This record gives sequence, C-alpha cells and structure tokens, in this order.
Amino acid sequence: MVDLPVHPTQDLVTDSVFAGGRAETLRYHEDLYASTPLGTAGSWLLGPDRLVLKAIDLSGGVGPILAFDLGAGIGRHTIPMARGLAAGSRVVAVDVIPSAIRRLEVNCAEAGVSDSVTPIVRDLEEFEFDVSMAVGLIVGFSAVEHVSSATAMRGLLSRCAAATAPSGLIALGIFADRIEELADGTVRRALVEFELDSKEVRTMLDEVFSSWIVEYADIGANHVSEERDGIPYELRSTLIQFIGRRPG
Ligand SMILES: C[S@@+](CC[C@H](N)C(=O)[O-])C[C@H]1O[C@@H](n2cnc3c(N)ncnc32)[C@H](O)[C@@H]1O
Repeated sequence: MVDLPVHPTQDLVTDSVFAGGRAETLRYHEDLYASTPLGTAGSWLLGPDRLVLKAIDLSGGVGPILAFDLGAGIGRHTIPMARGLAAGSRVVAVDVIPSAIRRLEVNCAEAGVSDSVTPIVRDLEEFEFDVSMAVGLIVGFSAVEHVSSATAMRGLLSRCAAATAPSGLIALGIFADRIEELADGTVRRALVEFELDSKEVRTMLDEVFSSWIVEYADIGANHVSEERDGIPYELRSTLIQFIGRRPG
C-alpha cells in the first residue's frame, strides 16, 4: 500500500500563498502606520469611511451597546464609534498587529475616548466573540478578507452573525477581485492572503445573512496607490459594502 503524502501539493501551494499574503499585510500596515498618522491627507487614514458613519447613525436611538471594530488598525473607526454610540457603550478594537493596537491606544487617549475602548491583539482567523455579551454593532472594514481562505472568512462571518443581538447591526466593507497594476500597465495578482471573487462574497453574504434586514448594500470599483520594494502600483479591487440588521 502506498502512503498518501501528509501534505498534498495543493495544500503546500495554498499555505505558501497565505504565508506570503499575511507577511505582506503585516509589512504594509506596520510601515504605513509608522509613517502616516490618522488624518493624513492623500491617504485612506484621512477620515472614517461613510459606511461606518452610516452604521453609527443607524445604531442611534437605542441605549448603550457593546460594539466591535474588527481589524481596527490605529482607530480610524474606533474613535468615531466610541464618540457616536450611546453614552455607556463599549467598543472592542481588535487587530493582529501589536504596534497598531499600541498606536490605537495613543490615538484613543488623545481623542479622550480611552475609557470606552477595549483594545485587543487577536487574529480574526480564530477570533471568538464572548457570547455572554449582547453585541449591538460589529464593524469590519477591510478586515474579514484578511484570513486564510473563503471557508475561514465564511466561518468568521457566521460567528459575527451568531454574536449579534436581535436588532443589532453588522457593517462590512470587503475588498475582492484584487489585482495590482504597474505603471507600464502590467497586471499581476495581488499579494493577499487568498484570492477572493466578488461573486463569492455576494453569495456568502446572501447565505450567512439570509434572514437579516439589509439596511445598505453597494458594490463598486475601488483603487488605491501603493508601493512595494520601491515600485509603485495601483491596487484595483471591487468594494462590497453591506449593513445588515438582525431581525428583532
Ligand atoms: C486596511 S486596514 C483597515 C483598518 C481599519 N479597519 C480602517 O478601515 O481604518 C486592515 C487592518 O486589518 C488588520 N488585520 C489584517 N489581518 C488581520 C487578522 N487576521 N486579524 C486581525 N486583524 C487583521 C491589519 O493589521 C490592519 O490594521
């Protein structure tokens, strides 16, 4: 009898794609956060995205809630969440990069919101919500796609859905169809954790949130200028935006 290999070749390829994507995610964000404070013109750190402001608005009219900012970075959304949610609310800010969370703590202190923010260093891949707490809002902007596979992302979305209290909201901005275009027009696959198709994202959202009220949905092209090894390129993608409310 022939022994099957412990690691089929495809798994090795998948593992190395993930390792390369994860390393690039860490490098890119560590470099960016070290050089670019919140509010920097010409960067995506200039201010909060409208999707999150809309979700904060939609969360109004209820009492204090527990909220999560997944992949919180240096607090671009954590701070307006802490300011905009009802008094007594708590925002748990989760990021895998310890230096990002340290900067988030400093930014929250400067913004005067430290008392209502709990920063934690955690990988979303295995992140579990404390189900003993009723969650009123989960924000994941450019976050849930930073895991190892579509299966892992679906698992994370399902955990988000299960953790949300009746009438609670989930606001997601998910980047898919990611490619890199160089100045000479050459196109190459983006250095991300796994390739994600926008159709797959739509199917996943339809299935995981099938019984939910869709408060907002949008899909459109997105691009951002980036640089790796001194070579500039455009990261082109499709941004899928979704705000869902769990039926009360
Ligand atoms: C593009 S940034 C967005 C930051 C923030 N959501 C915002 O919009 O300002 C993605 C963030 O997700 C974090 N991240 C990436 N993969 C992660 C993971 N598996 N677990 C937790 N955080 C992760 C990165 O460190 C980074 O801060």
